[in-house]
Amino acid sequence: MSAMDIHQQVPLKNYTTMRLGGSAAYFAEAHTAEDVATLHRTANAQHLPIFVLGGGSNTIVRDEGFAGLIVHIKILGFEVLADDIYSMTIKIGAGENWDKVVERTVVSNLSGIEALSAIPGTAGGAPVQNIGAYGQELADTLVSLEAYDTTTSQIVTLQNADCQFAYRSSIFREAETGRYIITSITLKLSKNLPNPPFYEALQRYFDERKVTIFTQQVVRDAVIDIRRDKLPNPIEFPNAGSFFKNAIIEDWQLHDLKKQYPDAPSYEMSDGRFKIPTGWLIEQTGFKGQVLHGMRIHDKNALVLINHEATGYADLAAARQEIVDAVYGKFRIPIEQEPLEL
Ligand code: EPU
Repeated sequence: MSAMDIHQQVPLKNYTTMRLGGSAAYFAEAHTAEDVATLHRTANAQHLPIFVLGGGSNTIVRDEGFAGLIVHIKILGFEVLADDIYSMTIKIGAGENWDKVVERTVVSNLSGIEALSAIPGTAGGAPVQNIGAYGQELADTLVSLEAYDTTTSQIVTLQNADCQFAYRSSIFREAETGRYIITSITLKLSKNLPNPPFYEALQRYFDERKVTIFTQQVVRDAVIDIRRDKLPNPIEFPNAGSFFKNAIIEDWQLHDLKKQYPDAPSYEMSDGRFKIPTGWLIEQTGFKGQVLHGMRIHDKNALVLINHEATGYADLAAARQEIVDAVYGKFRIPIEQEPLEL
């Protein structure tokens, strides 16, 4: 069988970490950027929509599935483009497992993505939602990326600024949804050691253990340890990481919130607005640890929904609605789903 075989009626639950939803009418793997171009031409000729899947760790599939062609990105590669005393610039194939990439850079004493350890998914998926954790964001180290532009049928290079990165956001999931198929990313990583102070939860972890020497490996190991509890392993407990984005509110809304809930956690953002942990908002509704429509609200982190025994997407949608309504009812704060929906 060649890499370009197009399969039919492929159950997408097997390709997403939430493990629910229907089938793809057509499904093929792309091992090179040329494969992507060929598959796009094939889909176009048959007027089929196309959707790109990497690790499936941030995608939710509806019960009706997808009536088009799923392109499963398997493009590999790890190539050093530049290397000096301060930094190394590396081009990474979109299909590489993200955590393997982090591990490889940490072992090489490179800094910049060590706090993004143990995030499921692929390198090509990372820019779509601008993955972020423990004080680092992909946007901090991404120089550029290559993508197949479905509008012009060309491979293009997008610079960091072209990607319009923001909190859990980029053009790939906002202004230009579906236009670009990312084939590689280029990161510039530093040869300096990671520097304290770290993100709150990480710093607390180090303080409690009296850790004072910080290497990339020390940070990576700490993040893996912290995440183990808060983010259940999707292989044992199907989930898509944070199921909601943290809420962003104006200062007057924060003022109102603190009047009623003086202990509400909040983080000021660079634009003067405030981020409220949605995990905290959900916890206040009393749903933490409960099962709603077969979906469990994780008992150690209310931001995570686990597919406990949902019969399909309809169950997930019902659970989501109850949570969104409860948070809105209590706080008048709308919350948004974080994973993409197919
Ligand atoms: N909190 C609660 N109850 C909960 C969960 C959280 O009260 O059930 C409060 C606590 O006050 C805690 C605060 O929320 O101090 C922040 O929690 P945490 O540091 O765990 O981070 P988060 O805001 O819940 C975000 C990201 C995670 C990322 C962590 C660490 C989003 C949507 N989530 O979660 O990213 O790992 O920070 O940096 O921004 C993901 O996107 O899938 C993801 C896991």
